[in-house]
Amino acid sequence: MTYSCYDCNISSRECPCVQKDDMDQIYPAVKECDVVVLATPLYYWNMSGQIRTAIDRLFALEEGDGNRLRGHDRFSALLMAAEGNGFDDVLLYYDHLMEHLRWKNLGHVLAGGNEDVGDIEGKPELKKAYELGKSIK
Ligand SMILES: Cc1cc2nc3c(=O)[nH]c(=O)nc-3n(C[C@H](O)[C@H](O)[C@H](O)COP(=O)(O)O)c2cc1C
Repeated sequence: MTYSCYDCNISSRECPCVQKDDMDQIYPAVKECDVVVLATPLYYWNMSGQIRTAIDRLFALEEGDGNRLRGHDRFSALLMAAEGNGFDDVLLYYDHLMEHLRWKNLGHVLAGGNEDVGDIEGKPELKKAYELGKSIK
């Protein structure tokens, strides 16, 4: 059986997780930013395990002596690529996540139909992602 550790009980620390690794670069960046862009391939109808783990560990920013994660006038966007087009589950998850975090969703760009390396080249989603980025002031 595994247990959650809950040792992140001082969210005001620069890097609140007791594990010391590359999250120490992500915590200060998330605290300072206005927009978080989640960019990931579709793996088993969800975000990749790597990005899910990073999201789970953001939990440390809402524990202990004050919430530094939810709200704070932050925005988010989702950029994804996949072989197929089964994005329904990940959109449900993303919408719930935004609801919990109280970050405003700026939109998604979902590029399906990529089987081989380079398939994404010239696809309209690349322009959409560019326009989404450009629209952020
Ligand atoms: C572990 C794994 C799971 C995947 N699951 C899906 C899936 O559920 N649906 C889908 O359309 N593509 C799936 N794919 C294909 C990826 O979405 C596709 O390779 C991705 O668009 C390209 O990103 P990558 O080059 O980082 O793999 C999967 C690929 C891997 C490696």
